[in-house]
Amino acid sequence: MKDLTPPKDTLDPIEIASRDEISALQLERMKWSLRHAYENVPFYKQSFDAAGVHPDDLTDLSDLAKFPFTVKQDLRDNYPFGMFAVPKERVKRIHASSGTTGQPTVVGYTENDLDVWGSVVARSLRASGLRPGDTLHNAYGYGLFTGGLGIHLGADKLGLTTVPISGGMTQRQVRLIEDFGAVGITVTPSYALSILDEYAEQGRDPQQSPLKVGIFGAEPWTNAMRQEIEQAFDMHAVDIYGLSEVIGPGVANECVETKDGLHIWEDHFYPEIIDPETGEVLPEGERGELVFTSLTKEAFPIIRYRTRDLTRLLPGTARSMRRMEKVTGRSDDMIILRGVNVFPTQIEEQLMTVPALAPHFQIELNRVGHKDEMRVKVETTVDGFEQGTAAGRELAAKVKQVVGVTIAVDVSAPGEVARSQGKAVRIVDNRPRD
Ligand code: DLL
Repeated sequence: MKDLTPPKDTLDPIEIASRDEISALQLERMKWSLRHAYENVPFYKQSFDAAGVHPDDLTDLSDLAKFPFTVKQDLRDNYPFGMFAVPKERVKRIHASSGTTGQPTVVGYTENDLDVWGSVVARSLRASGLRPGDTLHNAYGYGLFTGGLGIHLGADKLGLTTVPISGGMTQRQVRLIEDFGAVGITVTPSYALSILDEYAEQGRDPQQSPLKVGIFGAEPWTNAMRQEIEQAFDMHAVDIYGLSEVIGPGVANECVETKDGLHIWEDHFYPEIIDPETGEVLPEGERGELVFTSLTKEAFPIIRYRTRDLTRLLPGTARSMRRMEKVTGRSDDMIILRGVNVFPTQIEEQLMTVPALAPHFQIELNRVGHKDEMRVKVETTVDGFEQGTAAGRELAAKVKQVVGVTIAVDVSAPGEVARSQGKAVRIVDNRPRD
């Protein structure tokens, strides 16, 4: 794989500034952001007042811990525009979550917010190894989802040639990657696997593709999956993280030269890790729930937003800004099976170690009698029923040994496990609600 390290003089100076400089900027911006939220969003005024805190109480970054959390339900309660801090005429763009699990959450951006968003995504794409003039195949969905249009903003800012293909029509994805000579691809890791299958389908060799880097996010994926994808395409695979409530993609990104976790663009988004049970702020290095406070957003300031994503904070390496470890999963996706906590990523990790199984999987939860059963649907890559079932048994044994739970494995022929064109649906819960 080619060395894609960006030249130092192309970075934003703040990316490699001293910690003192970064903290000073954060403090100044945090004071502004708390005041902006308090003075312009009735929800924040009420919640700060109820907690007995005022923006003036923040004199140090650690004082943020005195302020109340914001959760997804607060956004739903204020649907659609109750969390906006500027008059509607200043809102240039609206995005929203799909709302499959309830009321959609709506977010807004001023002109300046769009500019900031473009800058942090440009920074992310540059950290991934892309340079002005490179062609980017952007297969994140365009529309209300922040993936497609968010990446597009940053690609424009960095000076890339963008192919706004969006998700779907997989045959055409492969054809255009090849015909247009894409150097980078932005896509969910699960959809990247479908594109990989399509290469085989068309009899093309993915190793000969023009791609040099894939920038994967919007859902959890493991280092085992990274290896699989890097080998298959002979390209780098880096992680991009973000969420609509905080801005969209571009909150944090891995550096292609280190691939050691995602640098959080801390001059715009202030991270904390809390104990999800007690809400207490945890020291650097401890695992817990990621919480974000926006430092510069105008239309939709967000204060201490509980992401439900589980990770830990680590010191900077390739950049001065702190890193977050690859997200292991969302607390919502944690399956408690007979007392053991299991994340889909733990299944993915084991699946990748069984050569006779394809990397596609879906987990089904069923109630059998009085017991919960976890059934993992996978596909075999080898011919013959015997080999397939042996691979299934191997997976079950590995999961039992490493994760500590008993699972049933359904091995089927290639193409039988549901494919995603965006975020994969990893868990299908058939258990009766009690
Ligand atoms: O998924 C934004 C995005 C688009 C990020 C494209 C990266 C690339 P939402 O739809 O609001 O926004 O979903 C946010 O997705 O809280 C995580 O649970 C999950 N997620 C996003 N990136 C990653 C990642 C976009 N790199 C939610 N690893 C977040 C693990 C991720 N989970």
